[in-house]
Amino acid sequence: EDMVLRRRVSALKFDLVTKCATTKARAATLNLPHGPVQLPMFMPVATQASLKGLTPKQLEETSCRLCLNNTYHLGLKPGQKTLDVIGGAHKLQSWPHNILTDSGGFQMVSLLKLAQVTEEGVRFLSPHDGTPMLLTPEHSISLQNSIGSDIIMQLDDVIATTSPDHARIKEAMYRSIRWLDRCMSAHQKPESQNLFCIIQGGLDLDLRRECCREMVARDTPGIAIGGLSGGEAKAEYCKVVETCTGLLPDLKPRYVMGVGYPEDILVSIALGADMFDCVWPTRTARFGNAITSSGTLNLRHASYAYDFGPVEEGCSCTCCRPPSEGGLGITRAYMHHTAAKETAGAHLLSMHNVHYLLDLLRQARQAIVEQRYPSFLVDYFSKLYGGDK
Ligand code: GUN
Ligand code: ZN
Repeated sequence: EDMVLRRRVSALKFDLVTKCATTKARAATLNLPHGPVQLPMFMPVATQASLKGLTPKQLEETSCRLCLNNTYHLGLKPGQKTLDVIGGAHKLQSWPHNILTDSGGFQMVSLLKLAQVTEEGVRFLSPHDGTPMLLTPEHSISLQNSIGSDIIMQLDDVIATTSPDHARIKEAMYRSIRWLDRCMSAHQKPESQNLFCIIQGGLDLDLRRECCREMVARDTPGIAIGGLSGGEAKAEYCKVVETCTGLLPDLKPRYVMGVGYPEDILVSIALGADMFDCVWPTRTARFGNAITSSGTLNLRHASYAYDFGPVEEGCSCTCCRPPSEGGLGITRAYMHHTAAKETAGAHLLSMHNVHYLLDLLRQARQAIVEQRYPSFLVDYFSKLYGGDK
C-alpha cells in the first residue's frame, strides 16, 4: 500500500492548453517546483552544473528556465557529501530555476568503454583514480535526491538502436522496467522531485509497446522515450516516437532524450513529444557553428571575415541584439575572428544557439495554440531547404 500511495505523489502539474487538430502536437504548461515552463520546450545541457562558458545569469538571459545536469558528473565532483552540505545543485550553481538530472548510466556507457552492465547496476572504473565503482538504481536516486533536481530520471539500461543483438535489446528493456521499480522504492522525495521513467526497446515496435504498457502502469509524473538519436534512420526514429506517444496518457509530459537538431525536434513535436535536450547547440558553437533559420553556418569560413551583420538578422539574443536595445551587437566578422581560438567567441555563439532553439520552440508553441502548426512546419522547412542563405 505504501508503494501505491507513494507513486501517486507528484511534484508537478501538467496543464494541456491546445492539441493540434491535424498533427499530434500539443501546447502545455508544466508547473514545476522552481516555476512554470511552457511545452514544447528545449532544455540546454549544463553537464557540470554549468553550461560550458556561460554564467548562470547568462543562461537565464537566453530565457532558459529548465536546464539539465548530470548525476554521474556531479556525483564524482563535487560529490554527494558536498551536495548535501550545500543543499543541492540549485544552490551550488546559484540557479533559481528548474533542473533536470539524467541518471548517469547512459553517460557512463557512452563515455567509458569499460562500463559493464549487470542486474545490480552499471560497473565502471573511476575516471579519477581507476577504482572500481558501481552505480545502482538506488545509488543514482540517492545522488539525485542530494542534487535536489526538479525532475530526476530512472537508471536505465541503454543499448544503441543500431545494435544487431536483439536479445540484448530485449533484456535491456525488461531490466529498465525492473530498475524503475527499484528507483521508485528508493526515491525519498516524491513530493518535491518528479521521477520520470524511460521507455526502451530499440527499434522493435512490439518491445516499445510492451515497455510503454509496463511503464505507464507505474504512473510516474512524466515519461521519457530513450535509446534514440544513436544514428538510426529517421524513418525508424519516427516510427518509435509515434508508436510510443500513441500509447502514452495525454496528461503527462513526454520527453525524447538526446534530440537534437531543430528539424528533428519540430517533427517530433508533430508526433506528440513535448521535451527535448541535446548538447549539440553548445558543442557545435565551440566549432564556430551558428544555428540560424536558413541552416547551420560555419562562421570560421573566410566569407564571414567582412560580414558586419549580426549572427542572425532580427535575432533577439544578447549576442545579436544591438547595443541600442541593450544587447552586445556582435557581428559575424567578430565571431569569425574569435571562433577559431578565443573562448569568448564560443561563449557568445553558445548564447545565440541556445536562444535560437528556445525561441524556435516558443514559436512552435504559439503556432500550435493558434492551430497553424502544419503551415509553421511548411514555412520552416521551405526556408531551411529552399531559401537563400
Ligand atoms: N540520453 C539520451 N538517450 C538516453 C537514454 O536512453 N537514457 C538516458 N538515461 N539518457 C539518455
Ligand atoms: Zn542571436
